Amino acid sequence: MSQIPPAGILDLMSNRGVNVAAELAMRWCKRGGKSLGDYLEFGTYRGSSFTAFFRAAQRHDVTDMRFYGFDSFEGLPETPTCPPDEDPTETAFVAGNYSCSEEEFRHIVAFRGVDLSRVTLVPGFFDQSLTEELKVDLAIASAGIVNIDCDLYESTVDVLNFVTSLLRSGSLILFDDWLSYDAHPLRGEQRACREWLDEHPEIHLTEYFKYTRTGAAFIVSMLTPYEQQVMQRDAGTRGGVGRDADRSRTAAPMDSEDGDLPAETEPGPPV
Ligand SMILES: C[S@@+](CC[C@H](N)C(=O)[O-])C[C@H]1O[C@@H](n2cnc3c(N)ncnc32)[C@H](O)[C@@H]1O
Repeated sequence: MSQIPPAGILDLMSNRGVNVAAELAMRWCKRGGKSLGDYLEFGTYRGSSFTAFFRAAQRHDVTDMRFYGFDSFEGLPETPTCPPDEDPTETAFVAGNYSCSEEEFRHIVAFRGVDLSRVTLVPGFFDQSLTEELKVDLAIASAGIVNIDCDLYESTVDVLNFVTSLLRSGSLILFDDWLSYDAHPLRGEQRACREWLDEHPEIHLTEYFKYTRTGAAFIVSMLTPYEQQVMQRDAGTRGGVGRDADRSRTAAPMDSEDGDLPAETEPGPPV
């Protein structure tokens, strides 16, 4: 007689790449039933990853985490790297693409079981909406998980600048499009991250895992001035080895202490 897998397993099997990422991120972020901070997603579209992370928190009984979603709810903005005409290398990144209204988003995620009382949505294009006043208004103490899924260099610059003061040692940053643009280090999210790290020598990223076709997750370490000197000295003596997410080190095999999860190799579009 065949058995129906429990709901948690079904979650992991549907939309597998993002669900596995959410599971691994939540295992990392929870601290004995508590989270290191809140969940912030930049680029929510129709709520696929938002739902995956909410469900992962539920599976792990992480009840203190609030869920923030930031989006224009009008799709991608028009920017120098996202012109109205199609970019031949990334045809999905066209101004106006991925448009989903706030109302539709609420409807979809509520239908999928997200408790809207734990959710705060911030509509607007990031260059306008992500202000210091907003940070005060939202009163986010710290970011446990930052999920950046906004595809574009310019959008990622705005996001990284906004979240800087919310990061703590142990925070996770997921870049859903790390390997988009043929993994070019000077385009898209990689370019934004490289420039941001250059401006913030106090922040170090260690690669934790890759997911889907293009995503990568990093663990944040906040460095003391002395530690920054040590890192700079090491980078010099090692000829720059270790500048992976620039000044992130590829490390950390998959956490398997709670049981093995498969390494994600599922191909799919960069959404
Ligand atoms: C690929 S979709 C996100 C997919 C979503 N995480 C999911 O799981 O389905 C990209 C989203 O980023 C948003 N976005 C990109 N740049 C933005 C910006 N500068 N300001 C506001 N929203 C932006 C778009 O509106 C779109 O919803």
